[in-house]
Amino acid sequence: MRKFLVAGNWKMNGDTARNRELVAGIIAGSKPSETVEVLVCPPFPYLAAVAEQAGDSHVMVGSQNVSEHESGAYTGETAPAMLRDVGCTYAIVGHSERRTLYGETDDQVAAKYRAALDAGLTPILCIGETLEEREAMQTESVCSRQLSAVVAATGIEAFASAVIAYEPVWAIGTGLTATPEQAQDVHLHIRSMLSAENAEVAAGVQILYGGSMKGENAPGLLTMPDIDGGLIGGASLKSADFLAIVEAAVEVAGS
Ligand code: 13P
Repeated sequence: MRKFLVAGNWKMNGDTARNRELVAGIIAGSKPSETVEVLVCPPFPYLAAVAEQAGDSHVMVGSQNVSEHESGAYTGETAPAMLRDVGCTYAIVGHSERRTLYGETDDQVAAKYRAALDAGLTPILCIGETLEEREAMQTESVCSRQLSAVVAATGIEAFASAVIAYEPVWAIGTGLTATPEQAQDVHLHIRSMLSAENAEVAAGVQILYGGSMKGENAPGLLTMPDIDGGLIGGASLKSADFLAIVEAAVEVAGS
């Protein structure tokens, strides 16, 4: 039985005071759960402080990016082992903003995925199509290409303890959301692709939806059989908004 994972990607937002308040609100407003996991991904400078504040509460901490290298002359980069060292257990890799704004390639994303895993982090692999690609009916082929690049580099076994986030680029930060059916179709496609390689691994992978998920649309999305949580941007920056999604997950899990 897969658990839900409700993950906040704070992107480049927040400061020390606001983060403290947000994390305190999330810890106070949610409970340890057998069925719903809660994760926050703050910007790099705040990871250690947020991890310390989260302590041994049920709130987990992840990074928004990670280097594919172990150590050395890579100015400005952060090694996977450093993230572990400051208390992270997850790392987002291949977010569409990294791919489009910073030119990350499928191969580089695959290398980051492998490096995160090797350091004991759970990678959250982001994939998804642009509006242009959706209109050209390329949604499945784009997701297949992005996923295959990682499967080819790491092997299917590397997905046994990983997370995939389907994030249609046209729904990120736009207020547009894929309908539950649109999202489910792609999630099923992703799981079927993995299943063709290893059915057991595919059945266990958490596939999150990302793209303007909010308290209002979360119940519909989370009821879909292959949607196992959310990777949330805008609505993860206020504890009440984020907690509304956590609550929706708890409700769907219990129903
Ligand atoms: P929004 O929830 O703001 O659309 O962002 C989604 C996202 O990019 C999460 O990684």
